[in-house]
Amino acid sequence: MISEPIRTALSEQLNREFSSAYLYLAMSAYCSHADFNGAAHWFRLQYEEEHMHATKVYDYLIEQGVEVPLRPIEQPPGEFGSLLAVFEASLEHEQHMTARLNDLSNQALSEKDHATYNLLQWFVNEQVEEEASVGAIIAKLRLVGEDGYGLLMIDNELGGRAAPAAV
Ligand code: FEO
Repeated sequence: MISEPIRTALSEQLNREFSSAYLYLAMSAYCSHADFNGAAHWFRLQYEEEHMHATKVYDYLIEQGVEVPLRPIEQPPGEFGSLLAVFEASLEHEQHMTARLNDLSNQALSEKDHATYNLLQWFVNEQVEEEASVGAIIAKLRLVGEDGYGLLMIDNELGGRAAPAAV
């Protein structure tokens, strides 16, 4: 059984994961409207991945036998400015998520809640990969700048992203 503060913190994390999914769906829609269909595909898969993250937290709370309050999901922006700006917003968001997960891990450790800590370590490791992959895309986008051919090449590459493995 988990403590009340951990239950509250995890239900907030559950909400953050759903908010992330919603944000990535908004990013996917933005890219579709800007005719970057590869990037739209990339963000659509990111949406699915965040949905899986939310479900992983949800399943854990259910397994722990606690009530799971479902909070409202924040409305994401609809406009991001450019392909580079949308990936920069994604990186900033993931860095925010990493900080929250580190806070949660510290909380679980201070309560000697090792089951929750183990769950959170899966997320912390996932963050390393997420930040690295978005960072690599940003580096390429900065390299090509406004060059249309370069942007199309990157968009094409983003369209080849494979679906995430089930968690
Ligand atoms: Fe579930 Fe990208 O954090």
